[in-house]
Amino acid sequence: MQVPPFSLQKQLSQIGQELDSAVWRVINSGHFIGGEEVKNFEKSFAEACNVSYSIGCNSGTDALVLALRALDIGPGDEVITSSFSFFATAEAISNVGAKPVFVDVDPINYLLDLRLIKQAINSSTKAILPVHLFGCPIDMTELVSFAREKGLKVIEDCAQAAGSSWGGKSVGSMGDAGCFSFFPTKNLGAAGDGGAVTTNDPELAQRIRQLAVHGMPRRYFHTEVGYNSRLDSIQAAILNVKLPLLPKWIRERQKIAEQYNDLLEGLPGIELPFSSLENDHVHSWNQYVIRVKDIPCFDEIGEDNSGQAKEIICSNLPNSKARDWLKRSLEEKGVNTIIYYPIPIHLQPAYKELESNSISLDNTERLCSQVLSLPIFPELTIEEQEHVVNSIRQLVQRK
Ligand SMILES: Cc1ncc(COP(=O)(O)O)c(C=O)c1O
Repeated sequence: MQVPPFSLQKQLSQIGQELDSAVWRVINSGHFIGGEEVKNFEKSFAEACNVSYSIGCNSGTDALVLALRALDIGPGDEVITSSFSFFATAEAISNVGAKPVFVDVDPINYLLDLRLIKQAINSSTKAILPVHLFGCPIDMTELVSFAREKGLKVIEDCAQAAGSSWGGKSVGSMGDAGCFSFFPTKNLGAAGDGGAVTTNDPELAQRIRQLAVHGMPRRYFHTEVGYNSRLDSIQAAILNVKLPLLPKWIRERQKIAEQYNDLLEGLPGIELPFSSLENDHVHSWNQYVIRVKDIPCFDEIGEDNSGQAKEIICSNLPNSKARDWLKRSLEEKGVNTIIYYPIPIHLQPAYKELESNSISLDNTERLCSQVLSLPIFPELTIEEQEHVVNSIRQLVQRK
């Protein structure tokens, strides 16, 4: 049996026809940029997140750039964020001319450690950019109250967390701006790139809207240098079909995560992801990420040479051999997993010149050498899940 890490095939067999007519509706209308589909999606997505405004754009990366620019964050400013994320989180900060300042993550939930943020703040700090990584919401009550006390802006990276909430409030509705990605593998995925910024601030919403269209408040009149970053009508039409299904898909993801928790419990060397959120917080499980620690029988099984390139780039990363071996051995059994993320952002070659703030990022570095994302998507069957778990069990209990 082959189990992919992610698949859209079954989803297509369920809603393929609706998607087909949605796409043809746009093509037949000749309205490829803007128009009703985009307007409707922005309205429905704002409602789904319980915010006043949602502005569609070209990608999650652009959503971050637009939010940062609209909040006047630029050269000379520092933004506190996590190095245990997709590169775009920090890239957006750099692209507006500001400096990403990395703070370590909590090793239990893999999210920014709020206690450590305090040590990273200085007079240049302008904002905090938390990531609701893998769909797990960060404690926004504490984060927002701390940020307000210090006069800092909060930009939520919700790229992996459509459908997540904290204290009954949707992610993207608690900071100054929320940035979503509709990349196909996300909880709410388009058929290509897409993104949105959410906010309750009317002036910020207006500025983002203008920046996304060449800094143009009215036709051929440009008040600032902006971007061409629009959610295109075909993507909006696809998202309009999918958005009503998001709550059901999140419930299915949650059920899969619970099943993994039950099936994997007690396996040697494997640590399960944090999942004990209280009832009014919702984890949307974009990824189910285990940590591969000391597999008892690993030493006897032997070496893993596949990690060589990684080790050359990141010689200071802890040993990832057990995890890399498990990944490769699972592949041989038809179980395809992904490593999110093998190299922390601060150790990427692109950031070798970045002045470090000498804060330890040990948890981040350890996680990068241990994490493994198991297959998860709403249509994953129990048989497929059992194959994943049985394969892991056979490998880690080989002795
Ligand atoms: C945490 C995080 N932030 C930002 C992005 C960027 O989103 P996009 O790929 O839509 O530009 C991603 C996408 O993978 C992400 O996972």
